[in-house]
Amino acid sequence: MERDATILVTGGTGLVGSAIVRILRAKGYSNVLAPARGMLDLMNVQAVREYFAAQRPAYAVLAAARVGGIAANMAHPAEFLHQNIVMQENVMWAAHQQGVRKLMFLGSNCIYPRECPQPMREEYIMTGPVEPTNEAYAIAKIAGVKLAEKIYEQYGTPFISCLPCNIYGDRDHFETERGHVIPGMLRRMHDAKRSGAPEFVIWGTGTPRREFMHADDLAEGVEFLMRVYTENRFVNIGSGEDITVGELAALIKEIVGYKGKLVFDTSKPDGMPRKLLEVSRIRALGWAPRVSLRDGIERVYRWFLENQ
Ligand SMILES: NC(=O)c1ccc[n+]([C@@H]2O[C@H](COP(=O)([O-])OP(=O)(O)OC[C@H]3O[C@@H](n4cnc5c(N)ncnc54)[C@H](OP(=O)(O)O)[C@@H]3O)[C@@H](O)[C@H]2O)c1
Repeated sequence: MERDATILVTGGTGLVGSAIVRILRAKGYSNVLAPARGMLDLMNVQAVREYFAAQRPAYAVLAAARVGGIAANMAHPAEFLHQNIVMQENVMWAAHQQGVRKLMFLGSNCIYPRECPQPMREEYIMTGPVEPTNEAYAIAKIAGVKLAEKIYEQYGTPFISCLPCNIYGDRDHFETERGHVIPGMLRRMHDAKRSGAPEFVIWGTGTPRREFMHADDLAEGVEFLMRVYTENRFVNIGSGEDITVGELAALIKEIVGYKGKLVFDTSKPDGMPRKLLEVSRIRALGWAPRVSLRDGIERVYRWFLENQ
C-alpha cells in the first residue's frame, strides 16, 4: 500500500474505523478518506457508486456496519440483516467496479457456530448453526466474507476479510443498549462508585471466558494485513488469550476504584461458555497485538472520564 495512495475507510466515526483512520495517518498514509454518514450514506447505492467514481480509491477498508449488543440484536434482527447486507454489498460491488486494488472486510467472531470447538480455527466457519441471539448479524457477516472471497476467486482482486475478537477502545458505546461488555461494565461500575452502591450485579455466573483486544491493535493488524496478506482465506485476529467475566469484573473494579461487592445474578443467561479465536495464522505472518488488557482498559477509562 503506497503512502500516497487514496485509501477509503468506511465507518470512520466508529470504534474500529476511527482507530484505523488514526493509525493509517500516524503511519504516514497521506490520503485517507473517511466520509461520515452525513456525507455518504452507505445504504444509498447511487451515492456510493458516485462517491467511488469521483474519488477513485485504490484501497478500501469496510469498518461500517450496524453493530450492537445482545439487546439491540434481539430487538432489531431484520434491520441488522438488511442494513449490513446492503451496506457491504453497495461498497464491495462499487469497489470492484471502480477498480479498487485491495479491500479489507471486517467480519466478526460471532460468525462461528455456537457449539464451535475452542479455540475457533478459520476452517470451523459454517460447520454448525450460529448463536440465535445474533443470527441476523452473523448471517450478514458470513455473506460479506463470502462476497469478498468470491470476488477474489472470480476476478483475482485481493478482497480479503479478517475476523476480530471482541474489540474495546476509546470511542466505544458506553450507553447500555448498544454497549459491549467492557464499556458497559466500566460505565456501570463508575456510576456504582459515584453513588456509593454497596453491590455491583453482573449477569450470569461470571465463568464464561471472553477474548478482548484494543481497537488500536486491530487497526495495526488491518494495516499489516493490507500490506502483506494475499491469500484468499480470511484471517482471525485477536489477542489469543481469554479471561472469565468474573476476572474481567475484578480488573475493572480495581481500575475504577469501586469498593463495593461484586454479585453474580445466576438467574441470567451466560451465553457461550468460551469464545476464543485460534490466531496461529496471523501469528505465523509475524503479527501480534501489543496493548495489554490492563493498560488498554486504563486508557479507555481515562478517555471516558475526559469525554463522558
Ligand atoms: N466492536 C467489536 O467488538 C467488533 C468485533 C468484531 C468485529 N467488529 C467489526 O468492526 C466493524 C466496526 O465495528 P465498530 O465496533 O467500530 O462499530 P461502531 O462503533 O458502531 O461503528 C460503526 C460505523 O458504521 C457507520 N455506519 C453505520 N451505518 C452507516 C450508514 N448507513 N452509512 C454510513 N456509515 C454507517 C457508523 O456511522 P455513525 O457513527 O453515523 O453511526 C459508524 O461509523 C464492524 O464491521 C464490526 O462487525 C467489531
